[in-house]
Amino acid sequence: MKLKHLFTAAVLALAITVPAFAEEETPLGKEMEKASKALKAIGRAQKEGKVTKDLASKVADIKAAFEAAAKLEPAKTKDVPAADKAKFLADYKAAMEASIKELDALKAAVEAEKADEVGKILEKLNAGKKDGHKAFKAD
Ligand code: HEM
Repeated sequence: MKLKHLFTAAVLALAITVPAFAEEETPLGKEMEKASKALKAIGRAQKEGKVTKDLASKVADIKAAFEAAAKLEPAKTKDVPAADKAKFLADYKAAMEASIKELDALKAAVEAEKADEVGKILEKLNAGKKDGHKAFKAD
């Protein structure tokens, strides 16, 4: 009986600590969250056909977050062999910079209130996210 309780306690302890570890956020992850929040607001407005100039401030939020993210190193860098680290980091920076460039187009489309164009750029940003996460995010 006692052993059963011990087992239950151990399982409970694991259930509590495992997600806590998994959700530990890095400074880079935090910048990504900020970008994600602002992008979602633009995505919602786009779907509802409410693309207005006011969204330019959200684009600026994404840009600030991505610029900060570009200066940070992905957590996965520590798992990359020493010989490949410089290339890994240069590739990461180039990919972030490509996304930052897309934001200039997004800003122009938002300011021109061109909802279709905004939709297309959001798709490109999402493709960049997918590729970026595949290459640079730890599993
Ligand atoms: C639309 C663009 C993007 C959005 C909305 C986005 C969103 C996020 C979010 C919400 C996280 C934290 C949660 C999680 O781990 O899933 C994250 C993590 C991460 N993202 Fe992005 N992301 C975007 C683009 C990119 C790009 C282009 C790259 C790489 C060039 C990238 C690299 C990473 C990395 C490396 C992490 C893990 C954090 C760390 O290593 O410290 N993301 N992203």
